[in-house]
Amino acid sequence: MTDFIHRYEPARDAGSPPLLLLHGTGGDENDLLGLGQMISPGSALLSPRGRVLEHGMPRFFRRLAEGVFDEEDVRRRALELGEFVTDARTQYGVAAPVAVGFSNGANIAAALLLLKPDVLAGAILLRAMVPLSDAPKANLVKPNLAGKPVLLLSGQADPIVPASNSAKLEALLSEAGARVDHKVLLAGHQLSQADVTLARSWISSVEAKAA
Ligand code: MLT
Repeated sequence: MTDFIHRYEPARDAGSPPLLLLHGTGGDENDLLGLGQMISPGSALLSPRGRVLEHGMPRFFRRLAEGVFDEEDVRRRALELGEFVTDARTQYGVAAPVAVGFSNGANIAAALLLLKPDVLAGAILLRAMVPLSDAPKANLVKPNLAGKPVLLLSGQADPIVPASNSAKLEALLSEAGARVDHKVLLAGHQLSQADVTLARSWISSVEAKAA
């Protein structure tokens, strides 16, 4: 299996979609387990630790400055994460997961959606940015996200993600065919109770549609 330190919690309800939990800068594989349980209590949880270290803090790809990404590395690491998910699905016998990513984890999830759409069943992107400045070119063909459900939750007062950037990400994903639900919350970059409540009801509606 592609080598990611990770945690795996088996499903308690076979009908709930598996979640791929992707932490923010400085987090690890334990960070989002609680969030995953709150959002979808019966789901299997697959939670890798980012393999890039920035001053000792785990991340999922390299950046040149805050909000300025090493896009070569974004592409390489997103493909690597895609392989890990595919291998883990075989090892643990789970369906394609819904990604739940926060900040840097949301950005790698967005890159994975654009580069390898089949790896994910959908995504909850918490405080995400556009991960690749020319996503269609990066993929060489236009990504096909036909009907893929995506919940994008942005913070109105987020000092890291400008409103124009999350709007651009929404447009990019929608143009590729994803079913994007974008909400701007009265919040900053950090998560709020509203994120948990909205993510929880969104995932139950996705489950209901899949059933
Ligand atoms: C990133 O580097 O992915 C974004 O700037 C978010 C962050 O991790 O601070």
